[in-house]
Parts: sequence; structure tokens; C-alpha cells
Amino acid sequence: MLENPLVEGLERLPVHPTSLVIFGATGDLSHRKILPAIYNLAHEGALPERFNLVGTARSAMSDEQFREMVARAIREFSRRPPDPQVLERLLEASSYVPGAVDEDALYDALQGVLTEFEEEAGRRLNRCFYMATAPRFFAVIVRQLGNHGLEHHEDAEVRVVIEKPFGTSLAEAEQLNRELLSVFEERQVFRIDHYLGKETVQNLLAFRFANGMFEPWWNRNFIDNVQITAAEDVGVGSRAEYYDKVGALRDLIQNHMLQLLCHVAMEPPVDFSADEVRNEKVKVLRGIPTPTPEGVPKIAVRAQYGPGTVGGEAVPGYVEEPGVRPDSTIETFTALRLEIDSWRWAGVPFYLRTGKRLPRKVTEIAVMLKPVPHLGFSQEGSIGVRPNVLVLTIQPNEGVSMSLAAKIPGTRMRIRPVNMEFLYGSSFLSQSPEAYERLILDVMRGDATLFTRNDEVEEQWRVCDPIVHTWEQMPGPLPQYPAGSQGPPEANQLMTPEESWRRI
Ligand code: BG6
Repeated sequence: MLENPLVEGLERLPVHPTSLVIFGATGDLSHRKILPAIYNLAHEGALPERFNLVGTARSAMSDEQFREMVARAIREFSRRPPDPQVLERLLEASSYVPGAVDEDALYDALQGVLTEFEEEAGRRLNRCFYMATAPRFFAVIVRQLGNHGLEHHEDAEVRVVIEKPFGTSLAEAEQLNRELLSVFEERQVFRIDHYLGKETVQNLLAFRFANGMFEPWWNRNFIDNVQITAAEDVGVGSRAEYYDKVGALRDLIQNHMLQLLCHVAMEPPVDFSADEVRNEKVKVLRGIPTPTPEGVPKIAVRAQYGPGTVGGEAVPGYVEEPGVRPDSTIETFTALRLEIDSWRWAGVPFYLRTGKRLPRKVTEIAVMLKPVPHLGFSQEGSIGVRPNVLVLTIQPNEGVSMSLAAKIPGTRMRIRPVNMEFLYGSSFLSQSPEAYERLILDVMRGDATLFTRNDEVEEQWRVCDPIVHTWEQMPGPLPQYPAGSQGPPEANQLMTPEESWRRI
């Protein structure tokens, strides 16, 4: 049992005493993200004064062995080296219940340990069930929690956290929502999209809605197009089993990138409560027309990386990666041109692009302004006078920059672009928490603002599903791009001749 955690002087949030059960506790996600995030919350004194961590998975393991595993994961993946005392207290609060998610015995055992904690505490504790398993188990776990009466706890809250992918199609997402909502109420459900936990994504709202200067030009009259890029230098790595079924569109665009688009395009909410924010995001999504099969080639491009060089290292092509089918037509790159039918945005293209094995990791939103109506200066000697661009860099080098045209010092009127910049690193001098830290804390606080609501996730699928279906009907091979390149030239076809993708 972890009590009165540790570091003083930090913001203490009202977090109700909680037992957190992680399904899939021995998996990769748990190791890399969830356990280190919980440790960092402990480190900051942000966990509730009574907190129990229960890991569950199929493997037989004692509490002691589980604690060793937790410690290893934290040592390897925590953003800060663990403090031995904090770690020790967290481990003391951790236990393990082995079992298969479809077997009743597991839920009886969970009920047993959860009740024990409460007897020890002399009070009811909130319960969070975190599904970090393979997606095929989500519905089974939900049903079993319901069958065992674990969906409700008198005088305390029960919440369920569900990882991505939330289905691999609209039909699956609808089905999963039906399953979830037949057992839980929507307010109990926390669908994770870890991008929403990123500081820079939350800052988008602060930036747009706490500064008066953007609103007057944040619309079709001044903005030419918006480019959202999520580039990765890594390849498929060890995740071929998952990735080779879904590809870039479903892995990143359906969730993270459409969320970024919503943040750029949404109207100011009345307040920042979960429902007001999510209502506004859903409105944006509803404004995106459903792609038609004939329209798909005009708005969507897919491609696969071939062999190439990334960071000076020769790397294999996608189909040569371990675990990938040699004839796979799964895309590792997707570019889309979406429009939003609304007064604010009608006619403004939103270009979305994501890919693996691009030259570097960068996630950014570039808001490209229209050119000035008439450039009165002589162009002689000027270097690249371009319309203003506002770049919101989500990661790395988190910050915001605005390109402006400025006079080059000297006796002639020569102009070139310069940047006005805000960087998190230098402005705040503190390390941002990992997305998962914020999200896990919000689950415990019962704040669903940074989680995807049922209608939101279905709208996201409504946009992506027809593209997936159309591609499934189109035979391969896919356009290729060499690993380490800017992506396939076909992506340029989505743009007008005056537009071009920003360099990655
Ligand atoms: C995950 C995707 O959701 O996001 C991965 O499944 C991707 O394929 C990852 O690499 C990117 O996340 P981040 O936080 O590193 O941008």
C-alpha cells in the first residue's frame, strides 16, 4: 500500500484512492509506457494517498516476480532514473493476479484482491481497469467485468481504460462501443489516444483560445492550407504482427492525426469540460465529407518504403522486415487531402501525411497563410519571399514558430523570411511529463477531456473506412519510396501546382 506519496511542493490534485488493474501487464505497452508513467506520477507525489497496482496476464508469476518485472521496466523506460525509495514504495503497492481474460477464475481472484485492499484501507476505493492487451480481448474483458459485477462499485467510481486501436473499421468500432456501453456508461469509459496527452497538443488549445491575435485570421479568408505531418524515421520494428494488418492510415491517421486536425479546426468551446471540448471536435469531424470510391484516388495516396538509408545506416525495405508478408500491400506512408465543410474552413485543404522510414522523426502542424495581395517591393536580390507560415511543432523541439518576411540589413530593400520562435525547452526549462502520465492521472481524476468519446471515434472511422475499402479493392504493388527519402512523389499529386509539402 502506497500512502502519502512523496515529493512535497508539487501541485496536489484531488485524486481519489484507487486500485488500478492492468490487463496485459507483462506486455510491451505496459513496460514502455504505463509502468514508467505510474512511477513518474509516484515520483511527483501525484498518485492518490492510497494506490494499489494490480498486474494481470496469462503468465504464472508471483507478486515478487511481478515487482521485479515492474522495477526492470521502470529502470529501462522511465524518463528519469528511479529514486530507490519512491520505487520501493510503488513496488510494495503492486501485486499480480495471473489468469486468462476469458476465464471466470481471473475475475473472482481480482474481486478478491480488490476487496482485500478495501478491507485494509477501511474504505471503498475507486477501481480502474486498464485494457492494455491485444485488441481482440477488449470485448471479452468488458463482458467478463460485467458478468462478475465489476462494472459498478457502491460509493466509488469504476472506470475502464481502453487502448488503441479502437477497432480496425467503422463496423468494429461500433460493435466495440455497443459492447462497452452495454456494460459501462460512457462517463466510465476512457478511450486512449496518447497524442491528446502530449503537452504540445494541449497547448494548441491554449495557443488558439488564450490569445486574441489568432482568431481574426484563423479561417478560410487568410489560411491557404494546413499541413499536418507525423514522420517517423523508424521502420516497423518488432510490431509487424500488428502493423502488417493495419498500415499507416489506421495506425496514425484515423486517431492521432485526425485529432490534431480537430484541434486546429474546432470552434472555441464554451468551457474546457470534457463534453464541451468533445462536442466541438465531433462537429469538425462531421464536416469532413465521407470519401467516395471514385474520389479516393484524388484525396489519398499510399506507399511502402523500399530499402534505403536512414541516419547513415542502410535499412531493408518494408516487405523484407521480419514478420511482414513478402507480398504485403499494407501502406507505411499515407497522405490525405481533406476538406471541412464549414463556414470557417470551406475550400481550405487540410493535408495529412504520415510515414515510417522518413528522414527524421517530426510531428508538426504548418498553417500556411495566403500570400499578400500585392507585393510592392522590387524582388531584386530578395531571397524566397513566401507567405507566412505558422508552425506548431508537436515533437521533437517542441515549440511554435512563425515565419515573417524581413528586410535584409543593407542599403537595398531586399527581403527574406525570418522566424519568430517560442521553444518549450528554453521558455519553461522543465521537462514535460510523458503523455501517459497526464492521461493515467486524468483517468484517476475522472476527467475525460483528453479521451476520445464514442461518437468521435466512430466519426474518425467514417472518414477512414471508405479509403481502406477502396484500397483493398485496388491490387498492388504499391508505390515505393526509398527509406530515408521524403516519401513517394505521388503525394505531390494531391496538391495544386502552387502548393508543395514542407520538407521533412
Ligand atoms: C502509435 C503507433 O500509436 O504512435 C506507432 O501505433 C507510432 O506506430 C506511435 O510509432 C508514435 O507515437 P509518438 O508518441 O512517438 O509520436
